[in-house]
Amino acid sequence: MAEPTSARRQAGMQSAGMKKTNSERASPRYESREKVTGMARYPADMRLPRVAHAYLCTSRIARGTIQAFDLAAAKAVPGVLDILTHETIGDQPRQVPAIYQGGYLSDSFRPLGSAEIAYWGQPIAVVIAETYEIAREAARRIDVTYASQSPPAATIDSPEAVTQPLAPMDIDVGDFDVAYARAPVKIDTRYSTPAQHQNPMELFATQCVWEGDHLTVHEPSQYVNNLKFGLAEQLNIAPERIRVISTYVGGAFGAKGFLTQRTALIAMAARRLGRPVKLVATREQGFTVSGYRAETRHHVQLGANRDGRLTALKHEGWELTSRADTVAMGAVSMTTRLYACPNIVGRVNAVSADRSTPGFMRAPGEMPYAFALETALDELSCELDMDPIELRRVNDTRTEPVGGLPYTSRSLMQCFDSAAAAFGWKDRTRLPGSMRDGDWLVGWGCATAFYPTYAGNSAARVRLSADGRVHVSSATHELGQGAYTMMAQVAAEELGVPVEQVTVSLGDTDLPPAVVAGGSSTTASLAPAIMAACDAIRARLGVTDATSGTVSTAMATSGMGSIEEFAETRAPGLPADSIKGLYRGMATPFGGVHMADRVQFALGAQFVEVRVHARTHEIRVARAVGAFAAGRIINARTAHGQLVGGMIWGIGSALHEQTELDERNASYLNANLADYLLPVNADIHDIEAIMVPEEDSLVNAAGVKGVGEIGVVGVAAAISNAIHHATGRRLRDLPFRIENLMNET
Ligand code: MOS
Repeated sequence: MAEPTSARRQAGMQSAGMKKTNSERASPRYESREKVTGMARYPADMRLPRVAHAYLCTSRIARGTIQAFDLAAAKAVPGVLDILTHETIGDQPRQVPAIYQGGYLSDSFRPLGSAEIAYWGQPIAVVIAETYEIAREAARRIDVTYASQSPPAATIDSPEAVTQPLAPMDIDVGDFDVAYARAPVKIDTRYSTPAQHQNPMELFATQCVWEGDHLTVHEPSQYVNNLKFGLAEQLNIAPERIRVISTYVGGAFGAKGFLTQRTALIAMAARRLGRPVKLVATREQGFTVSGYRAETRHHVQLGANRDGRLTALKHEGWELTSRADTVAMGAVSMTTRLYACPNIVGRVNAVSADRSTPGFMRAPGEMPYAFALETALDELSCELDMDPIELRRVNDTRTEPVGGLPYTSRSLMQCFDSAAAAFGWKDRTRLPGSMRDGDWLVGWGCATAFYPTYAGNSAARVRLSADGRVHVSSATHELGQGAYTMMAQVAAEELGVPVEQVTVSLGDTDLPPAVVAGGSSTTASLAPAIMAACDAIRARLGVTDATSGTVSTAMATSGMGSIEEFAETRAPGLPADSIKGLYRGMATPFGGVHMADRVQFALGAQFVEVRVHARTHEIRVARAVGAFAAGRIINARTAHGQLVGGMIWGIGSALHEQTELDERNASYLNANLADYLLPVNADIHDIEAIMVPEEDSLVNAAGVKGVGEIGVVGVAAAISNAIHHATGRRLRDLPFRIENLMNET
């Protein structure tokens, strides 16, 4: 195992600044030609001979049992090949724990495990037919008799929902009650965020093909090895008999992170039938196939001195979860560590309802918890009549106040200063409603963005050929974020070859294993492994520096045809035996607030200008400027795309996105892209993402903090704060809509 030494880390950091030109650092996307020419093959595009088509039949109740199936009409549709129900499936997939219990699955519901119904949209039958249309037609002809237990607990506010405090997440520092009681200035407010769905453009697809007792799965995935090892347990076969291929993913955002219950059903259907089987779940089914961002509630209490210094901070969160799984993002672990404060309480509660298990959605805990804290801070700044940037400045800290641990690096105020300058903040007039432009009420607001720096164990293989060509491979994932580009660029830089000479393979369990593409950790996890493999190649050639083609020259004259090196790297803070997890589909990103000796975060500042129409109350975000410090940026182009994309997500989370529930049966009313509002081009005006230079040699050997999620964080609070500045109205419940500004509060 090659964990780079600290000397190597420092050398890497120095060379990172020295030998790369700006154009290299923004090299074009590796796979752009494939994508724009339609040549990129996504998992559902793979053509499998004699493939049969699957269609899911899903529950129309949220809680109860299936009393009877009448399959006669469905079976009568010509072309139907098989129908799986809990009665016909035979050997069921084995129960495998969810990731929250150290297993592999995104939830604990057992697919076709019994007559029990635990949520609306639960798969209750799978129809296999010669064509998609036949399967769909037959699925619609399945007659189900339910015994419904009503009413279900549909939402976090339902009387039937059960609230459970999660004591292990408690944070207690100093004496909050006393300090809060004595504080000269106080804020005591509540906030809420709705259920939201990731809605990747690419639907949830699975294709399974057996060759003898070997199974190949084509499925878009953020973690192909999780899929392989989890599925092996569900099917009770050796993991070596499963290969998962996912070379392109058409958006994921957390929804494709962990094995869902559908995959085993399709694998079993293919085995029974002796033919490949293809499933493409519908857009509506996608709302319950995988996890989602659960609705949350927040209670924030802040106490401060007149100079703005925080003396007391309490953040309590409530998060919806299913009956089967206790899932909570619990980001008070972060909101209590951002600012200096001597008296702190953090609390998290899970609220169980009759819903599918929630999961991860881009900045899963950070987005809602930052909305609450950063809006509360703005309310405090108004109470103090203090500039909101200054409020962050007086509470800035180099050590987090819960454990007293140092930040590895913290450039929060540099981000505020940089974004404020680009935004023109100095021209802001303090009073709400004071920046009117004709019929438009103009408001300027800002908020902190943060995301913990994670990295996981990862492995890579690099081959250098005598002709100077390089091949890099690892079972990592291309979600559109730029993994191919990053891999090619790191290898090119480390070996001193033009990036055009590098080819990349990823998204295949036959390759060296990598971490889940989650927690903004792909680059921070994998770049060190690629660097270590390149180090080993240079060592074999006796070359110490990679500038100006020295490596290729040495290679060309070495008499060797190629050199191939494999390297695995253990992420900082993980124990030695954690490397085993890498080979079992359990390479979990680690870091953030969980390190023994430090905390590590990427930080940023979000600024927005909103315009609220005085008569219609229409809310527009006219401008957004974000500045982010996230350690080393490997590729400015892909990083910029991530940050701007994240900020657009932030606008969506503030003004558009909400999964609407029908409380009668805990179903989703807008499970389609017509009714589930997402920002479109007309909603997005000027957006600027600034990358603030930052060096951090502690976070990992590459000095990378990651930018996949931070762009989302803080935007909703900045918009809330700007709406207050525009109108004097304080909105505390996402999303913000015209009707929220129509009635007096
Ligand atoms: Mo991301 S929500 O960690 O896939």
